[in-house]
Amino acid sequence: MDKRAIGVFDSGLGGLTALRELRRLLPGEELVYFGDTGRVPYGGRGKDTILRYARQDVAFLRTFDLKAVVIACGTVSANALTELRAENDLPIFGVVEPAARAAVAATRKGKVGLIATAASVRSGAYEKAIAALDPGVEVRSDACPLFVPLVENGRHRPGDPVVELVAREYLAPMQEAGVDTLVLGCTHYPLLREVIGGIMGPGVTLIDTGAVCAAETARFLAGKGLLAEGQAGSRRYFVSDSASDFAALAAPFLGGEVDGPVERVDIEKY
Ligand code: DGL
Repeated sequence: MDKRAIGVFDSGLGGLTALRELRRLLPGEELVYFGDTGRVPYGGRGKDTILRYARQDVAFLRTFDLKAVVIACGTVSANALTELRAENDLPIFGVVEPAARAAVAATRKGKVGLIATAASVRSGAYEKAIAALDPGVEVRSDACPLFVPLVENGRHRPGDPVVELVAREYLAPMQEAGVDTLVLGCTHYPLLREVIGGIMGPGVTLIDTGAVCAAETARFLAGKGLLAEGQAGSRRYFVSDSASDFAALAAPFLGGEVDGPVERVDIEKY
């Protein structure tokens, strides 16, 4: 048993889709979330900048007594996981490896699609992780840079003509490639699940990276006897931009109310 907190971070709000799943799977855990809302998006930036930001995010989270860190961001997981693991003496979970495992398990025809930010696609991390599991699986990857701003501006609902148009254009090559499994390689994309599922059709399995990462974290902690037991979990939320906007913006990602205090942090100090 281990009552220390789990630190979770993302470039902004998308990582709340992973936190939501962690909350559901591990209701007794203390969770500390950092969303870098002042510097989002990371997905169009270069590896050096992503790594610098990610190091600051982890340094801030490590001011708490943590038993694990969850990188609830596809872009950071794809570009900085190796470095963050080498530099930190605690378990660090990213979204790429669990998503690759889920995709390889789900595909029937060996044709997997990946949609993610430009920096995630450029890294080749998802392809590498899938090839390590099964070199016979073909992967088609496409960056979808308009998805994050659309989601952050609340334009993610089915029937919204703007998001439907953008999604049809982005997903057409995936349909042509005949993928039967599509990795939603960015933690913002689960909010587009209905739109994407509606276009790809019921024959295509959608992999929610935040959810599979949360499940892997829960399995690891349970396997090592590191879960907190016999307590009601608490949550704390930190952002690098306005804390007052956070509750309204976060609700769709969390699927409900923000259930803890929200504070602003000067991330450049870390
Ligand atoms: N949540 C980030 C990810 O999973 C995307 C947002 C960004 O570009 O920073 O890649």
